[in-house]
Amino acid sequence: MENIVLKTMLERSSIRAYTDEKLTDEELCALEQAALSAPTAMNRREQRFIFVTDDGMLERLENAIMKSIIDSGNTDFAERIKSRGGKTTYNARLIVIIVNKPAHFSRVDAGIAVENLALAAKSLGLDSVILGMPEGAFAGEYGEALRREFRFPEGYEFSIAIGIGHKATEKEPHERDLDHIIHID
Ligand SMILES: Cc1cc2nc3c(=O)[nH]c(=O)nc-3n(C[C@H](O)[C@H](O)[C@H](O)COP(=O)(O)O)c2cc1C
Repeated sequence: MENIVLKTMLERSSIRAYTDEKLTDEELCALEQAALSAPTAMNRREQRFIFVTDDGMLERLENAIMKSIIDSGNTDFAERIKSRGGKTTYNARLIVIIVNKPAHFSRVDAGIAVENLALAAKSLGLDSVILGMPEGAFAGEYGEALRREFRFPEGYEFSIAIGIGHKATEKEPHERDLDHIIHID
């Protein structure tokens, strides 16, 4: 069966190294539409998408995430990241931060939108990695200044992020285990 949507889903994988090539305006516009077309519970559409492409701000985010991991005192985790090249955003030239007003299903909404972005990126010949790790850097009192710097609207919290760019490495898609499907026939 030749189905571009299914093919895109089956071929997507998390890429953890990107080249310096920036995204075009056309690609950025297509990704904005993909984010905004995600359904939300009760059609609330309360989530906001922060598109970061500025080199300085991307570096600022990378450093803030690493600092938050070190400050958390989780030395094993910090060492694991350092041993993998010390990068948490992998030189992705676009990071989309999805922020929400906390509400029932708001994180489900964010999950749907982040997958829309991952699949849209793949279909455009780009690659992506979903990023939960920035959560600590933006959390609570610790993350207040960073939330302001990254223009979170008042009362909005980090839900999830995604790094997108041109891949500098390969990774096979993960295994699909049919035992994980429960049939009620
Ligand atoms: C909610 C969520 C958070 C994730 N956070 C990170 C992250 O912070 N850093 C990272 O390198 N990968 C992150 N990932 C990617 C997963 O590790 C990856 O999807 C998983 O290993 C399966 O690999 P695949 O995406 O190549 O199929 C995250 C994925 C999800 C769904």
